Amino acid sequence: MARKRQIVLYPDPVLRRRAKSVERVDDSIRDLVREMFEIMDEEEGIGLAAPQVGESLRIFVTGPHADGTHPHMTYINPVLSGFDGELQAHDEGCLSLPGIRGEIRRQPHAVIEALDVEGKPFRMESGDFIARVWQHEFDHLEGILIIDRMTALDRLRVRRAVKELESGG
Ligand code: CO
Repeated sequence: MARKRQIVLYPDPVLRRRAKSVERVDDSIRDLVREMFEIMDEEEGIGLAAPQVGESLRIFVTGPHADGTHPHMTYINPVLSGFDGELQAHDEGCLSLPGIRGEIRRQPHAVIEALDVEGKPFRMESGDFIARVWQHEFDHLEGILIIDRMTALDRLRVRRAVKELESGG
């Protein structure tokens, strides 16, 4: 089946918009989620948010972690909480910012509540790498990108790559 969507790159304005809540989890949402999984797997990403395929909706998906502990998961209208502990820095990239990486400080632990593709609520808790992925993808729903969270030094380091994206590659 032909795909309707593709990866949206910075500085597309959809990446800066606050995404809207999903009112009803129906077949059109399930179609969107299916495409998001296809695109994420093709790009070998470990997470993808709906604004990154041009849809300003509060949905993200995550892929299997390198250690195989996390299956494909869908999170609709997610809410994050349960933050405790000191921020930890880790190298991050983003499919919408090719060639750009930097150290991002995030909470080591998180609780997520969301709806699955059937519209059923679920809750997960993690102090693992996936907690970081949730925070990265949740940021996309708020219009926040890794370049906003980098240290001043990293921001300077990636400045040229960012400028290139801004001028259309
Ligand atoms: Co991203």
